[in-house]
Amino acid sequence: MVTTRTGFRCGTCGAEAPRWSGRCPGCGAWNTLLESRPPPAAAGGCGEGQLRPRGRPPAVPTAITAVDLEAAGPVPTGLAELDRVLGGGFVPGSVTLLGGEPGVGKSTLLLQVLAAHAAAGAPALLVCAEESASQVRLRAGRLGTVPDDLYVLAETDASAIPEAVDRSGARLVVVDSIQAVADPAVGAPAGSPSQVRACAELLVTMAKTAEVPVVLVGHVTKDGALAGPRLLEHLVDTVLSVEGDRHHALRAVRAAKHRFGPTGELGLFEMGDGGLSAVADPYRLLLGDRRPSQPGSSVVAAVEGRRPLLVEVQALVGTSPCGPTGPRRQAQGLDTGRLSVLLAVLDRALGLGLGRTDVFASVVGGVRLSEPASDLAVALAVASAAGGRPVPPDMVAFGEVGLGGELRQVAQAERRLQEAARLGFHRAAVPAGCCPGPPGMQLVRVDAVGDLPALLAV
Ligand code: TYD
Ligand code: MG
Repeated sequence: MVTTRTGFRCGTCGAEAPRWSGRCPGCGAWNTLLESRPPPAAAGGCGEGQLRPRGRPPAVPTAITAVDLEAAGPVPTGLAELDRVLGGGFVPGSVTLLGGEPGVGKSTLLLQVLAAHAAAGAPALLVCAEESASQVRLRAGRLGTVPDDLYVLAETDASAIPEAVDRSGARLVVVDSIQAVADPAVGAPAGSPSQVRACAELLVTMAKTAEVPVVLVGHVTKDGALAGPRLLEHLVDTVLSVEGDRHHALRAVRAAKHRFGPTGELGLFEMGDGGLSAVADPYRLLLGDRRPSQPGSSVVAAVEGRRPLLVEVQALVGTSPCGPTGPRRQAQGLDTGRLSVLLAVLDRALGLGLGRTDVFASVVGGVRLSEPASDLAVALAVASAAGGRPVPPDMVAFGEVGLGGELRQVAQAERRLQEAARLGFHRAAVPAGCCPGPPGMQLVRVDAVGDLPALLAV
């Protein structure tokens, strides 16, 4: 039996309670419980958790061999680099959350996807809750042709979206952003956890019933987490993030969660005057300005997803002014905590006196390195900067550094070495137990960080 429930939801943490109380049972905050009513679809006869629209007959069991594979298949986005991350494109009925820092290019990327869809004859709808329709029109013009089948709904009322999808016949829907829309049935401000959650639930239901892919833009907080309840990430099928430094052209798109394919695959774009374009040669941006003879520069053979990527790491070691705060450790594109650990390990092994010096480390091109495999290249750059001796120009490095200074093996060594060889590197500093390299690649097997000075040029 279908029941229409009303309940209460905390405006701070999103926790639900069957009846009102002065204090939230979830987070303990006072006077934050607000009455919540089921979303309109549910109020219209579709019980919570049910995805069947009014008037549609109940689903019947089907033999798995008779299930239409085509219907569930991904629809290409029109951007090959994005399809690479998604494993083909957006799946009809799926909901994707696209996160990224302000200004990184989320709206631009999605407008390009919408325009490509519409240009191919499939109506596409952009719900712009943060910009006016004319601002979107201007931007679309800047990005290229403005197809007729691209519809814009400048609206912050989330409950108006399903009807707009119906009227436009959209086969792809983008809501920019989930924090800017609000369902009037929920008595909480836009962007509050309960509102974000209610709107996401409404849009997930809409995606399933209309069988259209829906993309939600999500803002991230300063520390890189998606703003809003964590539940949002559980509600959606796919979580994508756009990464990059606003001051650099390179943008990376990756999937943190993907119900329909592998995660970790990396798409690379370049932001230019005409929006985002696929990067044919990332090394022009990543290694193009490198000065190999300069101390403090090394090249890491990284792997992002299944994609090998050679990136320059730089380090600068300077005398620290005596002060109460101690020497500075600053990392860009690397975890500062990880840098501090590496410095402590290096200091103990090599006695570099890093406890009295400022150390700055940076990954070139606005790339973020998260795998421990980059440890050796960072250590090499620091040892090179501290000793004033360059890393050999034709050498790449990869390997994880343990707390005892020992080098540990990392996954996909063969792939890293092949990419290095392809780009003309002839030497690779690797953990001692690494697999053999391709022809022409000399492996410099490193046991521990104590061996690093012997690797540097004189
Ligand atoms: P935007 O897509 O609005 O970012 P987000 O939605 O993530 O906040 O991108 C804004 C930035 O992108 C802005 O700094 C200008 C830049 N940009 C270009 O460099 N070229 C372009 O063609 C466009 C449309 C934007
Ligand atoms: Mg935007």
